[in-house]
Amino acid sequence: MNSENLKKIILETGFVSCFYHLEEIDSTNTFIGGKDIPADTFVIADFQAKGKGRFDRTWLSEKSSNLTFSIKKKFDLSPAENNLVLFYFSYHLYNSIKLFLQKHFPDVNTNELHIKWPNDILFGWKKLSGILIEIKPISGIYIIGIGINCNQIDFPDELNAVSLAQITKSEINKTALLKTIINELSANIHDLEEKKVDLLFDSWRNSTKMIHMNCSFIDSSGNLNNGKIIDLNRNGSISIKTEQSVLNFISGEIRITSLH
Ligand code: BTN
Repeated sequence: MNSENLKKIILETGFVSCFYHLEEIDSTNTFIGGKDIPADTFVIADFQAKGKGRFDRTWLSEKSSNLTFSIKKKFDLSPAENNLVLFYFSYHLYNSIKLFLQKHFPDVNTNELHIKWPNDILFGWKKLSGILIEIKPISGIYIIGIGINCNQIDFPDELNAVSLAQITKSEINKTALLKTIINELSANIHDLEEKKVDLLFDSWRNSTKMIHMNCSFIDSSGNLNNGKIIDLNRNGSISIKTEQSVLNFISGEIRITSLH
């Protein structure tokens, strides 16, 4: 990717005012979290030596094949409104990938694209993209780290991952995809700033496919349990009906076990 072209594309949206393109870094989230990096910064790396995933996992991404970037923003939100950031970024990332596929690969069935609670983007039931949101308490600073599998072809089986190149059977123009994403995020940010709760929640919830599905999950005692997903809620939580009761989780990992 050409740094100057990328910088122009990112900065001309006005969504951020500071841009870094790094060849290699431990993690773009860690880098952008530095005290000297102001809000409204965008950082992209060709390679992350220690990419971070949710729950202290590692985000593995082949050098130069994929998109790995972070955005630092300041929002005036209470802790109870943090879920709006999750709704906003996961829905608009999902929608940008959908728009990109529809424009460049009209034969791809974009109904296969959906959000898996809370903020993974899947194609079919394989992971295409992950988001790691880190919140700096009190300051109103949010770090949104995004990884998208673009041109990688081989993944370890246990990751259950897929890339856009595998879906489209074509090489992906990462700059064009990034342009679609940043334009989409920039064009709709007023919805988050104006706290349009219903719109943000409905867009996110309507982009998921999990409701009514059977799943397994780790319960609060650390045991593997089974249940049926009955809803996704306004506070970002998931409700699962087990044989005994209905449980609500605000964070965690759910495995879909069957479609009914
Ligand atoms: C997940 O699904 O577990 C979240 C993955 C988030 C990965 C991205 S890649 C860019 C940014 N920098 C990181 O270290 N992690 C996020």
